[in-house]
Formats: sequence, structure tokens, C-alpha cells
Amino acid sequence: MNHPAMHGLRLTAPAHVKHARLASWVAEVAALTGAADVVWCDGSAEEYKRMCDLLVAAGTMKKLNPELRPNSYLALSDPSDVARVEDRTYICSERQEDAGPTNNWMAPAEMRALLQTGVNALFKGCMQGRTMYVVPFSMGPLGSHISHIGVELTDSPYVVISMRTMTRMGKAVLELLGTDGTFVPCVHTVGAPLQSGQKDVAWPCNKTKYIVHYPETHEIWSYGSGYGGNALLGKKCFALRIASNMGRAQGWLAEHMLILGVTTPAGKKYHVAAAFPSACGKTNFSMLVPPQGYEGWKVTTIGDDIAWIKPGADGRLHAINPEAGYFGVAPGTNYHTNPNCMDSLKRDVVFTNVALTDDGDVWWEGMTDTPPAHLIDWQGKDWTPQIAKETGAKAAHPNSRFTVAATNNPALDPEWDSTTGVAIDAFIVGGRRSTTVPLVAEARDWVEGVYMGATMGSETTAAIAGQQGVVRRDPFAMIAFAGYNMADYFQHWLNVGDKLAKAGGKVPHIYCVNWFRKGADGKFIWPGYGDNMRVLEWIVGRIEGKAGGAENAFGVSPRYEDLRWDGLAFSKEQFQSVIGIDRSAWQQEMVLHQELFTQLTFHLPSELPATKARIEQRLAA
Ligand code: GTP
Ligand code: SPV
Ligand code: MN
Repeated sequence: MNHPAMHGLRLTAPAHVKHARLASWVAEVAALTGAADVVWCDGSAEEYKRMCDLLVAAGTMKKLNPELRPNSYLALSDPSDVARVEDRTYICSERQEDAGPTNNWMAPAEMRALLQTGVNALFKGCMQGRTMYVVPFSMGPLGSHISHIGVELTDSPYVVISMRTMTRMGKAVLELLGTDGTFVPCVHTVGAPLQSGQKDVAWPCNKTKYIVHYPETHEIWSYGSGYGGNALLGKKCFALRIASNMGRAQGWLAEHMLILGVTTPAGKKYHVAAAFPSACGKTNFSMLVPPQGYEGWKVTTIGDDIAWIKPGADGRLHAINPEAGYFGVAPGTNYHTNPNCMDSLKRDVVFTNVALTDDGDVWWEGMTDTPPAHLIDWQGKDWTPQIAKETGAKAAHPNSRFTVAATNNPALDPEWDSTTGVAIDAFIVGGRRSTTVPLVAEARDWVEGVYMGATMGSETTAAIAGQQGVVRRDPFAMIAFAGYNMADYFQHWLNVGDKLAKAGGKVPHIYCVNWFRKGADGKFIWPGYGDNMRVLEWIVGRIEGKAGGAENAFGVSPRYEDLRWDGLAFSKEQFQSVIGIDRSAWQQEMVLHQELFTQLTFHLPSELPATKARIEQRLAA
């Protein structure tokens, strides 16, 4: 490793940095990584513009036609760096049992040797020839008692501009940190040092990847990827894996949940938080436009991916969205199914891995019924409908995404930035299941609701590197995000409900949903999207004590007459095929629940097998 001084490295923090521990940590990491320069980000519009220009000059991004898509860019990643890498993601707690059987684990000392201290440690010299950016950010509104601060050191300008959109980033956060405030240190490198004179590639990354969390010391180290949750460390790494540890210790919840507000025609407003796995409909549900026949109903977005939920003095659970922007799935988004999202994307967007049109705009599968006659696909190759037909080539990568500020969303809830959060009235959990799981079921109590969340299954999607469409257990959509033992996580959920009830607080109802049952033709039976309002109306009706339902083995579900069908032709038979509980399918499903419980047996709360036994009795009856 070259001596940092040889690069003219600025090891001394600028004068406005008053936090000695932060300054010395930055200097340490700069020395370890051999960064050629250190830049402290202020989060200003000028800085954003400067960084975008730099990314365009480097060939990472292309500026889109300002007349069609003002102030917007297209970034194309390396074809090998397109999704989260769960098999390279580690929870390095001192004891393996604290990471639990569903997380990859390595002893902290061993991991530190590999990344930081060993002779060939990966971070040694990993930023040579690159600038290291210091990115101070707040997860949650500045100054909220629910919020937490992080500082990400990264050698990726793409990460810097993304963090500016996705978090509250910059100088104000440094000021809030003062001289000795607490922050979560996050170190990120693309793992592609440049020798002097070596030309950079458009999307530097490394075949070797490590996404590492030290839950006891609240540290994050990420190596080798520049994409999404691997690299924007405020998101899954901090706001879920580290924050779930904070929440467990402090009595609150960090969840992979959207948060929405729903206002009834009578003017009553409720707040719902919903856990669906990656690419299973959170962004869409949070921006729902009620269908015809639902005049007077309004859905507003508080968050589309992550919720931090803390018990308040009023006996309610209060939720904030720790993020400030959306990193959402592009394919399938269109004016028919999600007009609010399309309107959010009219300007000020960074698109990643979608296709480029000949007039300098973007396109992805499902945006329009008829694709353009010619495109440059996400790998920079010519694409025509004919080529797609012959080779199956997708114009946009299935996990291509947009990055846009929440303030671009026309359905943004007025309280989205509230420092006290919104009081949650109902939780929803649900996966992507072509069979078995009903459209909606209400848990009879908190414990049954925790059971529904804990045993959730979902077919895997392109959001994760690896095989797609396989059913796996994804408890509370947190299989990849719980930063500690999943069985302890279930216990934590039970404890939160128990504590609320004992304090005489209002315990939210829990619902399980599934928009994704398929018919014999392989097509979704339920229209989904805006029509999910019908299910949401039923949930609101249940909260208000007005809506009817029928008990089944797995909770309480609406009968045909309990939902409102105005404006939709959906027969009783079709409804039966999305709501029905098939006894033999459920008996098989219970085997899968047991597999999970066996895997987690060591810390598993006894309430869960007891609930399972009750469901089995009902199935047998
Ligand atoms: P992450 O950002 O990965 O956490 O995903 P997400 O949960 O926010 O999922 P998103 O809303 O982006 O939807 C993912 C995919 O599911 C898109 O292709 C949507 O078009 C599709 N989708 C969303 N809601 C529905 C629905 O109600 N029915 C059907 N059939 N598809 C849906
Ligand atoms: C997810 O996969 O759940 C996402 C995208 O929201 S990422 O930020 O890559 O985790
Ligand atoms: Mn997500």
C-alpha cells in the first residue's frame, strides 16, 4: 500500500467538522483503504449536480432528454451487479446463536481479519486511485426521537447521489451530531482500486462481495458491489439489520414495511403498515389509487419499504419512514396500475438498468402495452420486439429500479416527515403465493398474527441474486433483514404486543394477504393494485367493528358479501378461488411451517407451535 501522503490525501477533517471521533475514524479508514482523496459531502443541490456531471463524464450515467424527463439520468450497472447478494451477507455477532440459523455468520475477529486487519485484508488499499466520500445521513426526520444517524464512507459517487435522495443527507446531519453524537459507521467500497494511469470502467465492482454487519458494535462494512441494498448502507443494512438489533434492545420494531394512510369518506383516517417481501407490492400498495366506486376514499404514502415503530406514551405504536426517497422496482410500473408512481417519475429521477429510447427517455417491460420499435437495453445492446421474441432478451433488467425523492410523490401523506410518526391501526403481512394462502385473513389475536407473519412464505423474485419463483419461508418479509436470531425476533414481536396490552394500550389487528393466487391458465386471478382497496376497506371495516367475516382454520376472512364489488366484475366463484382454504394444500403448508420451526427450534417461543396445533385441529375438524 502506498503511503497516503503520497496522494496528497486530506487526512485532516475540514474546519466545520467538530466531532473528533468521527474525524479520526474517517482518517483511519482513509489510511486503511488508501483513498486518493477525502471529500466531506454537504448534501447541497450544487454538490448533487457536480456528482451527476462526474458520473456522466465517467460513463456510469447518461443524461436523459430534459424535455421528456427533466433532471433525470440512466445508470447501467455491470451485468454481474444487479441485485442484493444474500449469500454474501453476514451477521457477525460474537456468538453464532445470536445470528441464528437463518443468517450467514462468521466470528467478528475472523471477519475483521478478512476485511481489515489480515495481511491480505480486502479493505487494505481498496480505494487506491479513488476519492472517498464522507456521507453523513439521518434515517428518519432530523431531530425525531425515533430517528438515528449514520455516516457512510464510500468510493462510489453513484452511492453518494443515491444517498442524497434516499436519506436526509449532508451538513445539517453533521451539525446535529455536534461534538460527540452517536452514529452508525458504514464503510462501503466497490472493491476496484485504480493503479496510477489505469482507466476506470463505467461500473466498477468486484466479483468478491461481502455485506457485513457487526450487531454488537453497530458497524457495517460492504465490499465489492455498487448496487442498491448492497451499497446504499442506510437502507437494508442500517435501517433493518442494525436497527432490528437496536429495536430489540430498546423495545421497538424495525420492519420491512410500507406505511400508508387511508381516509374514509366519513373523514376518518387510519394508518396501516404492511410487510411484503422484495418485489411483492409494497411500493404499489403504498401509492394505491382507489378504483371506481371508491369516491371519497383516499390513500396516502408515508413510506414504501421500511418502518421504524416505537411504542408511544399514548399506548399506541408510532411509525416513521426512516427513508426520504424510493428505490423502487421499474418493470410492471405503468399509468394503469400505479399512476402515482408514474407521476413521481416525471422528473428528478435516477433510473438504473432500464432501457433507453431513441429519443433519450426510458422504457421497461410493462410500462406500455406496445414496446417502442427500438431501444438500447440495460446492457447497452440494441433491442427490438423481434430480438426479444427470438432471444428472450429483456429491455430492462427485472430488478431495474428508479431512485426518486418522496417529495415527488403526488400521494405523499402530509405527515410523512412528522417527527412523532403516525399511530398504527393495523399490520398486514403477505407474500407472493400462487396457491394456498387466501386473499385476506384477520388474525384472531396478536399471537395468531405473529404466527401468520412468522410462517409467511413467498416465491423468490429478481430483487435477490439467485433462483427465482421458488417458495421459501420469509418471516415478516425479514428473512434477509433480521439482524439477529429469527426465533428471538418472533419473541420480540410477542413481547411488543404483550407489553402494549399490559399497559392497557391499543393492540393493532394483524392481517395476512395474498394478491398473487393464480388460475389454471397461470394468470393472476385477483386484479390487484387499485382493487386491493376492496381488501383495505374490509380491514378498515373490521377496525371500526362494522365488517362481517367467517372464521376459518387460518383466521377470519370476508365472505363474498362482506366485500364491496362496485365497478368490478368478479364472480362468487372467482372470489372462492382466491379466498378458499384448501384442506390438503394447507396440510402440506403446515409441513413447511414445521420445517421452519424445526430450524428455529432452539429459541422458538412456545406460543408458535401452540398456535400451529390449534390450526391443525381446525383443519382436521
Ligand atoms: P422492493 O422494493 O423490492 O421491496 O419491492 P416492493 O415490495 O415495493 O414491490 P413493488 O410494489 O415494487 O412491486 C413489485 C412487482 O410486483 C411489480 O412488478 C408490480 O407490478 C407487482 N405488483 C405489485 N402489486 C401487485 C398486485 O397487487 N398484483 C399483482 N399481480 N402484481 C403486483
Ligand atoms: C429489496 O430488495 O427489498 C429492496 C431493494 O427494497 S434493495 O434496496 O436492493 O434492498
Ligand atoms: Mn424492499
